[in-house]
Amino acid sequence: MKPISIDNVVHAYRFYAPLYDRLFGAVLEPGRRAMTETVGALRPAKLLEVGVGTGLTLSRYPPTSVIVGVDVSTEMLDIASSRAKQLKDYDISLLAMNAEAMDFPDGSFDCVVLPYVLSVTPDPQRLVREIRRVCRKDGTILILNHFSGSRFWWFMERAVRSMADRIGFHSDFCYEDQILRHDWKVESVKPVNFLGLSKLVVIRNV
Ligand SMILES: C[S@@+](CC[C@H](N)C(=O)[O-])C[C@H]1O[C@@H](n2cnc3c(N)ncnc32)[C@H](O)[C@@H]1O
Repeated sequence: MKPISIDNVVHAYRFYAPLYDRLFGAVLEPGRRAMTETVGALRPAKLLEVGVGTGLTLSRYPPTSVIVGVDVSTEMLDIASSRAKQLKDYDISLLAMNAEAMDFPDGSFDCVVLPYVLSVTPDPQRLVREIRRVCRKDGTILILNHFSGSRFWWFMERAVRSMADRIGFHSDFCYEDQILRHDWKVESVKPVNFLGLSKLVVIRNV
């Protein structure tokens, strides 16, 4: 499998940006909804969304939170900015940044969310190190992602496995390797989206 580079991500999402909401909006929406409901219950003072994309989640965060969204694709961020402008009562900053090497000081956020990003970023372990650094100790990390091994989706995973660098995500992405290997505390895991395509993982940053 050819590795994904950050240039592959930028290139892929330059192509996807104008189509993204139509291709991946509704189909991945139940997972986003479950994630934003969890954030709503937590009411974090400072929230970071990594890979904010076109900003599909922004309107469902608590308006009392200070919200920061980062993404490496300026084309995706442009669409997110138009959405953020409509949300007059919110405090939202959107920044072009590679989340594997962020500019924020340690422990800047109470909650860090990653909707559909971990299997897109070139080096998921480097991203995990970085989100644990910017999330405060005992803060919450929410990971929403597709993980391989589902009875229903294995055929599609195999079909696109060799195209990771072109399609911009790893379809073959193992929950044990990517989540359970870290010394954080997994608090809950819930299947979301059609036929359990994705999982919402709630993690305590111990
Ligand atoms: C599948 S999209 C998800 C967008 C949005 N979170 C959603 O719920 O639809 C993945 C997004 O992550 C961004 N991304 C991938 N790797 C990144 C990285 N290392 N740093 C910042 N953004 C990244 C991509 O540019 C893209 O906008």
